[in-house]
Amino acid sequence: MPISVHEGLFEIQTRQTSYVFGVNEQGILQHLYWGKTIAAQECAYRLRSRSHSSFDAQVEREYEEYSFWGGVGYVEPTLKVRFSDHVRDLKMVYEGYRIVTDNGVEELILTLKDAHYDLLVHLHYKVIAEWDMIERYAEAVNAGKTAIVIENMQSAAWAVPYLPQYRMTHVTGRWSGEYQLRDTVLSEGKKTIESRRGFTGPHANPWFAIDDGTATETAGNVWFGALGWSGNWKIVAEKSSFNHVRVTGGINDFDSEWLLQPGETFTAPVFVGGYTPSGFGEMSRSFHRYQREYVLPGAATRKVLYNSWEATTFDVNVKEQIELAQKAAKMGVERFVVDDGWFGKRDSDRAGLGDWYVNPQKFPEGLGALIEKVKELGMDFGIWVEPESVNPDSELYRQHPEWVYHFPTRTGSQLRNQLLLNIAKPEVKQFIIGFMTELLSSHPISFIKWDMNRTITEPGLHGFPAGQQKEIWIRHVQSLYEIWAELREKFPHVEFETCAGGGARIDFGMLRFADQAWPSDNTDAFDRLSIQEGFSYVYSPQVMMCWVTDSPNGMNGRKLPLSFRFHSAMTGSLGIGGNLKEWSEEEIEEAGGHIQRYKEIRHLVQKGRQYRLASLRKSPQAAVQYVSDDRTESIVFAFLHAQNFGGRLPDLKLDGLAEHKIYDIEGIGDEVLQLHGSTLMNAGLPLPLRGDFDSVLISLKARE
Ligand code: GLA
Repeated sequence: MPISVHEGLFEIQTRQTSYVFGVNEQGILQHLYWGKTIAAQECAYRLRSRSHSSFDAQVEREYEEYSFWGGVGYVEPTLKVRFSDHVRDLKMVYEGYRIVTDNGVEELILTLKDAHYDLLVHLHYKVIAEWDMIERYAEAVNAGKTAIVIENMQSAAWAVPYLPQYRMTHVTGRWSGEYQLRDTVLSEGKKTIESRRGFTGPHANPWFAIDDGTATETAGNVWFGALGWSGNWKIVAEKSSFNHVRVTGGINDFDSEWLLQPGETFTAPVFVGGYTPSGFGEMSRSFHRYQREYVLPGAATRKVLYNSWEATTFDVNVKEQIELAQKAAKMGVERFVVDDGWFGKRDSDRAGLGDWYVNPQKFPEGLGALIEKVKELGMDFGIWVEPESVNPDSELYRQHPEWVYHFPTRTGSQLRNQLLLNIAKPEVKQFIIGFMTELLSSHPISFIKWDMNRTITEPGLHGFPAGQQKEIWIRHVQSLYEIWAELREKFPHVEFETCAGGGARIDFGMLRFADQAWPSDNTDAFDRLSIQEGFSYVYSPQVMMCWVTDSPNGMNGRKLPLSFRFHSAMTGSLGIGGNLKEWSEEEIEEAGGHIQRYKEIRHLVQKGRQYRLASLRKSPQAAVQYVSDDRTESIVFAFLHAQNFGGRLPDLKLDGLAEHKIYDIEGIGDEVLQLHGSTLMNAGLPLPLRGDFDSVLISLKARE
């Protein structure tokens, strides 16, 4: 029984944790414990109000399960509203709970009601017992007769137990440098990570981890969470002067309001949280499994794809695409994707976006001729779209200038020469569903790469009343999710990738609809190792698309061996993105060998357990290992940045193996080595890496 209730105490039990809270004498939901399993009933003694002085009259409000803004509550609120009589104060009283079970998964739902107004709040806790996680979200129901304005509604507040020091780990980044890991010790005050740009953003990603400063990859207590929202979001870690730390998260309240009409419900997005006593590696593995089992729309193995963007950019034509497809097929590619440039008058990023008809000069016989050829070559076909955007130089914009977000007295900022469509307008939403339906029903297309290359600016919601203008940030995301949901239902055989100028819209909200994600436009295989490491903290290698591109790399001129480029990309879901017409016969053949090898091991990469063994943040070496659930199979990718002063690399300690099993090890020299799991994990494996930018793929198989 994951959920139990003992006289005013609620306990959520997962495989190795207890999460406990209760209703105190003030009727406040007070958080009591989150960590390794305990005897939860014994927490009753912790349930008490605590006054420090008249300035801190209710210290227990600092660890309220969900902070209603009103009365003596001053921590980061999770709900703040304005009633129609201008009262801005909540007094939410606990009303009751229910437990529902769906597909064997238990969910606790608590209900609170305002003492005066007909506002109800339901707090949801869905138990992901096997991965020690809880999905939380809140719902606000207006059961009264007048509208209520929601000024701020967060999904959840996670109270972290007392630690002598609190360290927060998160990522930062920018275009082409996404998912850079950072950590910071929290002092009194707030550390906020957020997006105010209309999408998830490359500058931060909505997840956090908290430890006491001593947790490592393999050991230590870590509390963590990730939010499923693809628009403006906010995660705040607040440390009070009483040394309480709580992490709140949800839709960003900046420039945001929601008008809740009588009878309506507003549902905040899911904020999943978890705890592990076994370090950051275990945290990531829990996140990976959770998303595969509870978030992603499907479990299919990712195909090896080819994408022509870096090869041809906007200069797309049927002849050249067929030439690329022939080379790709020869290498063993399974899916051919035409990127930007196939539609409208799209010869550069200055025009054509919004005109979703096949360009007749580039494809005189339509897309059919190319698709047929691709299919004949044994591959399936995918295509790029960016439906939310429009170039002012397009037929769509000339016909419907009022369809973009704008303020009437302002000239819209153009980013990448484009504006953003107001997809909250029903006719715009229908336009997108309409052209996508036409595209997908008139061609045998199996894959869509859905891009979004600008932020929201001048957020005027044309057609909506004055009191709802600030709903734009939420409405854009809601409408986007609805469009994806409808398309996925209409075209169940089509797989989708989320892309936003690289990795700017990847989160558990988007991943409920997308099968895979494009982490970065930076395809330099060395830079990618760091980006992919940061990505892997939360997101699974299965969704992480990695392309092998040309050397020297177009972005930084770095030259890397083909094997290094492949090994780096093989740590996720493999794609090829180079200009194959420039690749020699030997390179095509070598690439074919790597692709073949990838197909043999991809079940481990995509569905196995990932262990980060060495990081470029700490050494000139990076290494990542994947292990099958039954521990009989494993592979290791190791990379060397630069060897200095004739130094010998330390032996690489592996992880996740069975101690007593003997493994056959291939990839180090010509011999097959045989070592016990215990030796491999405690003494380590010698690495055959030398010089600059060297890499190796080592495979291990347990003997019967
Ligand atoms: C974005 C994407 C790229 C490519 C281009 C096309 O930058 O991230 O992969 O699709 O758009 O314009």
